[in-house]
Amino acid sequence: MKICIVGAGYVGLTTATALAVFGHEVLCVDRDQAKIDGLLQGKVPIYEPGLEDLIIENCKENRLHFSSNVKESIRDYPIILIAVGTPSQNDGSCNLSFIKQVIEIIASTINNYKIIITKSTVPPGTNEWIQQTFLEMGIKDDLFDIVSNPEFLREGRALWDIFHPNKLVFGTKTDRPLEVLKKLYQKGSAPFVFTSLTGAELIKYASNVFLATKISFANEMARICDVFQVDYADLHKGLGMDPRIGPDFLNAGLGFGGSCLPKDLSSLKHSALSHQLETKLLDAVMEINDTQIELYLKKLSTELPDLADKQITVWGVTFKPGTDDLRSSPAIALIQQLLQKGCRVHAYDPMVQLISSDVTSHSNQYESVSNSDALIIATEWEQFLNCNWSEVKSRMKRSIVLDARNCVDGEIVRRQGLQYMGVGKR
Ligand code: UGA
Repeated sequence: MKICIVGAGYVGLTTATALAVFGHEVLCVDRDQAKIDGLLQGKVPIYEPGLEDLIIENCKENRLHFSSNVKESIRDYPIILIAVGTPSQNDGSCNLSFIKQVIEIIASTINNYKIIITKSTVPPGTNEWIQQTFLEMGIKDDLFDIVSNPEFLREGRALWDIFHPNKLVFGTKTDRPLEVLKKLYQKGSAPFVFTSLTGAELIKYASNVFLATKISFANEMARICDVFQVDYADLHKGLGMDPRIGPDFLNAGLGFGGSCLPKDLSSLKHSALSHQLETKLLDAVMEINDTQIELYLKKLSTELPDLADKQITVWGVTFKPGTDDLRSSPAIALIQQLLQKGCRVHAYDPMVQLISSDVTSHSNQYESVSNSDALIIATEWEQFLNCNWSEVKSRMKRSIVLDARNCVDGEIVRRQGLQYMGVGKR
């Protein structure tokens, strides 16, 4: 099958690559000429383990192509998959301007039957709006089918997720595109969920909002553990053993970040409000997340009452391990608050070097703690888990370690004479 994917961002690139691996002929287009030039030379603009090799291999096999000629490509391909960004606006609503630009191009060039698949995360009602827009522009409904086909991949594990999906969700108006959709993904063995256009959009939002809810629940439980001097790790263990609950997404800590969970939570709240519906649970999830950093700073100030002019080292600045993405990273928000309190901030991250001119970045994790008053682990990178704590101790000025991701063994840290504070425990 011939597919044109619009948008060479995270979702667009991984989906294009996976569909090429499945044997389809895929053209991935983006109006960003520099990005396309780089891709044509095998340079992948995002860090995703394994992606670069697969892109190079599939380009060589002539199954994967790149172009910046968006209009011509859209006109020539029978299946268009839209994977452009849908960022948050200042009021929390979703910015659909990139989607609208693609829809305008499709509408102005369509001359034979096309299946138009929306992969981007869009608010409930967007695909209905696309359908309606086409009809109002005089495009007959036998010339197109709109499909809402959200993506559930995680950054850093995107290829695994895309090759081993737990479901494939398709929202359609009619049954007409279903056979093509099944063939598109026929190499996978995941069950299909067929629903309406808006149903598929809501499944995507509900998934991310549920994950965010689990994390805020974990963070609230960790606050309660703190008060009753119970170790949250024990609670997590006991809770996770119940198969109705499960252990996933119950790690307490600095809270959730990234380009999806916070954005989708705000966007769904905004959509509900536009129908005069209050979202009390979503509001609480957001509020807990927004106050996590405050909580950890309070913890730090029990040992360092005056943070002004203290040297604080932050380990891990990406929004989670396994990525170079800093979007809505809780670690970055933490650094900003430390700077506001007058701290001298030093940082180390295995993937990111330059954070800002206000922060001293290091390329070595041990060097980064030299002369520091406190070390905060903000992102649970693997290399922090078994690091040399005696080296850390020998370099630090004071000995405070605040593990804001509960990722290291507190006893091992304490044995080296360091003062360890974790999540849901002192
Ligand atoms: C998320 C979803 O997990 C994907 O299913 C979805 O496809 C994607 O958004 C999207 O909409 O595109 P992602 O943003 O890559 O994926 O990151 P997650 O792995 O979900 O982590 C999000 C945040 O939650 C991170 O900051 C992480 O540190 C935090 N987190 C995660 C916790 O604080 N505790 C946990 O137990 C798990």
